[in-house]
Order: sequence, then structure tokens, then C-alpha cells
Amino acid sequence: MKPVSVGIDLGTSGLKAIAVTAEGERVAEANASYPLLTPKPGWTEQNPVDWVGAARKTLSELAEHLGGQYQPVAIGLSGQMHGATFLDAKGEVIRPAPLWNDQRTGEACAEIERTVPRKELIQRTGNPAVTGFQLPKLVWLREAEPENFARVAHMLLPKDYLGYVLTGRMVTEPSDASGVGALNLAAKNWDRDILSALGLNQEIFPEVIPSYAVSGKLSAEWAKSTGLPEGLPVIAGAGDNAGAAVGLGLSKSRPDMGSMSLGTSGVLFAPLETPTPEPEGRIHLFCHADGGYHFLGVTLSAAGSLQWYRDKLAPGVPFDELMREAEAAPVGSDGLVFMPYLAGERSPYLDPDLRGSWLGLSLAHGRGHLTRALLEGVALSLRDVLETMRPLVKLERLLAIGGGSRSDLWLSIVGSALHLPLARTEIEEGPARGAAILGLVGAGVYGSVAEALEATAPQQTALQPEQLDMGPVYARYKKGFAAVSGFKS
Ligand code: XUL
Repeated sequence: MKPVSVGIDLGTSGLKAIAVTAEGERVAEANASYPLLTPKPGWTEQNPVDWVGAARKTLSELAEHLGGQYQPVAIGLSGQMHGATFLDAKGEVIRPAPLWNDQRTGEACAEIERTVPRKELIQRTGNPAVTGFQLPKLVWLREAEPENFARVAHMLLPKDYLGYVLTGRMVTEPSDASGVGALNLAAKNWDRDILSALGLNQEIFPEVIPSYAVSGKLSAEWAKSTGLPEGLPVIAGAGDNAGAAVGLGLSKSRPDMGSMSLGTSGVLFAPLETPTPEPEGRIHLFCHADGGYHFLGVTLSAAGSLQWYRDKLAPGVPFDELMREAEAAPVGSDGLVFMPYLAGERSPYLDPDLRGSWLGLSLAHGRGHLTRALLEGVALSLRDVLETMRPLVKLERLLAIGGGSRSDLWLSIVGSALHLPLARTEIEEGPARGAAILGLVGAGVYGSVAEALEATAPQQTALQPEQLDMGPVYARYKKGFAAVSGFKS
């Protein structure tokens, strides 16, 4: 039987499980969705029991697809970063888990930065206190729900909680742990000084093992209910951004090549060999799953802006039609500028209260201008991210991924705004593929992550998008930002 590695992506809208051969070819896939809870404005939560149910369903389906033809050799984990699963001493979930996009922790972040000065926090952990990160969620719990806080014996990230359920072992790995807000980046371990300054018990935080390491073995109960082999090694894996990068073959040994994703959010990923933070922490610095590090710049509403626009202002109009109208409008949208801060912004402004806008409307503008300005605004927001990264990275080329990258128009706008060549791959499996590849390393199919990345890196096709003169449009966007930065929610 041919060996395969199972990769899991515990996402925000659902869980994907795939099986991948040693060459990196996907041979089976199963998906299950679960609800996102929004009990109060700015709060987002999920019930960890829903993740577990989705894992049981997808792993059973996957085992059935694999039949007698393929032999699973490992399960690799990946998933949404930053969420907090609070567990009591018996390992039971205490309350629903607040997620990466939850905004309840403004005061907790201020408390963290009053205790550990922002500059020092950035030097030690790579980032300032960010509302979405996990550490502020624990500080919030202490203040807001003291009776729940008193019961907390462990806190796990979403994919690590699933790993615990599958194996009985509580561990994490550097790529996801560096999104907690308390990992010392140089040591790749919890920063005791930060935790003790905040009066937090270090025992709450799980052991940090390498991303490719075995975190435990699949339990008899899970083997029985899914049909996967008992004792199957479960590999620590990676946070979803590092996982997706492993799937694309992005590594510290090629810091010239990063990725640009036009998904709900827009993400610039740049691999790094050493952890030098952006001095003001305006872009995230995390550990990569290959032993290196990476910058991550996030424009929160990218294709999410387009989706909102279509749903709310042009319901029923096909995206193709909107794109055709946008293409007919001139570069710069006749002076119309869109600021994409519909959900606040992460990079480089780190401000949940920023809001979106079109600036410079006139009677001459029509729907094509509105759409084009939106596409341009998202591209220029990514340019803001790139400008912040530029002095610290060696990027020369970006792999274009995410749903929005299917549009030639949007790619030519983004490519021209960023002044970087773009390339495409056929890979669409995202983080689950990276998790499966780390599984191949953990199972010993490859001797190192570097070797696995080399062997599984997807083919790239260079893109030749039309070059547009976006310089003056960026200058107008910057002026627009100055105008709206004081106009918050
Ligand atoms: C990264 C981030 C998101 C989540 C959601 O900082 O918040 O990419 O990992 O998937």
C-alpha cells in the first residue's frame, strides 16, 4: 500500500482533512463546517466540541476513501491561530473559545503593555499586544470571568486542543505558539519574565516541541471511531499561515520568495532566517515551521471587501460583471479612493477602530469606478504592508494565492501596486497540505523539513500582468489615509 500523510486544517468556517502522498499529491479530501458564534458585538467564539465533531466526521470519511489502497503514516495538524481553549485540571473545556478575530481584549492589551513596555514586548516576542492574540484573552478572563479563570489549568490553541483530544498529550509548536503573545522568539520557548510580570502561572502553557515532531499517538477510541490505525503518530504541525507556506514550498532558505493572498483577508508572507522585529511591531513576526521565522502583514478586508460590496450594494450581480465594469474604468478610478478598513485594520496600523470609506465621489462616478477603487484600495493597503516590511526583507517574487487571485484585473492592479513579479501554482489545498507535509517529516519519510519542502514544492508559473502606473494612485491613497485616520468607529 502507498504511504500517505493526513493533513488537517481546523479553519474558522470548517475543518478540512486531506491525504497526501510522499510526492505531495492529494489523493483524498473531506470537509465539515461548524458555526461561528457572535454572542456580543466584537466577540467571536467557537465551541471546541464542534471542532472535535468535525474532525471525527472528516477523518472517518477520509479513512473510508483511502480504503485498502493507501497506508496512513501520520496526521499533521494545522489551523486558525490565536484562539484560546481554556481547560480545567481534568482537561474539560471551561467556556467557548474566543477566536483570532475577537476584539474584546482592548483593555487587556493595554494592561499587558503597562506591565511589559511595548518596545520590550516587541523585542522579546516579535509583536506588541494584539487584540486577536491568545495571551490577552487569558488576561481578559481573569478580569471578566474570575470564577472561570480560577478553574483554568491549561490553555491550548485550537489545533493543539484537537491534538490533545486525538492523543491525550498537550503540546504546541513554535509557529502557532509565536502567535500567543508570550513566546520568546529567540529561545522558541515561553518568556518566563513576561508571564511572571503579568502574574500568570507558566504551567498553564503547554510544552513547545518542533513543528515536525510527534506530539502523541492516535488513541484506541479515535482509531475505533474513524477507522484510522491505532497509534498513528500525530505531528505538532503549524499555524495556518506557516502551514500554507510549507504547502507552497516557502522556506527560510529562499527569503526572496513570499506569498500574497487575496482571501477574505489579504496576507503578505515573507520567510526570514533570523527574528528581527519591525521596530514598531507594525507587521507580525512569527516562527516558521521550518526552524526559521516569517513576517506576516494582514489587510483584514481584502476579498472580504469585495464580497461585502457585492452582497450589500450589488446583490445578485455576478462578480464577472462587476470586474468587467471595473476594467472599463481608468487607472486611479478618476480620483476615487477606497479605504478597505471595514473591520478595522491589522497591518501596518493595528487599529480595530479604523473604518472603511470611498473618498472623492463626484457625479461623474458610476459603479465601475466604485468597484475599481475598491480593488485598488485593497492593493494599496497591501502596498502599505510591503513598504513597512521592505527594509527588513529580501522579497523578489510573490506567489499569488486566494480566491481574489483568480482575477487577472486584480492581479495586474496588485502586481503594479507592489512592483513585484507574481507567480501562480496549481495548489489549492492551503494549510492542510503543509500539515500533511510536516506529517511526512514526523513519520520519517523525509529526514528534515528542508528536504520535504524541496521534494514537494509545487510548480510555479510566472505571471505577466499588465503594468499599470499606480504611483500617483498610491500618493492619493496616502492622502486619503491621513484624512480618515481620525474618523473612527
Ligand atoms: C494570523 C491570523 C489569521 C488566523 C485565521 O495572524 O489571525 O490568519 O490564523 O486563520
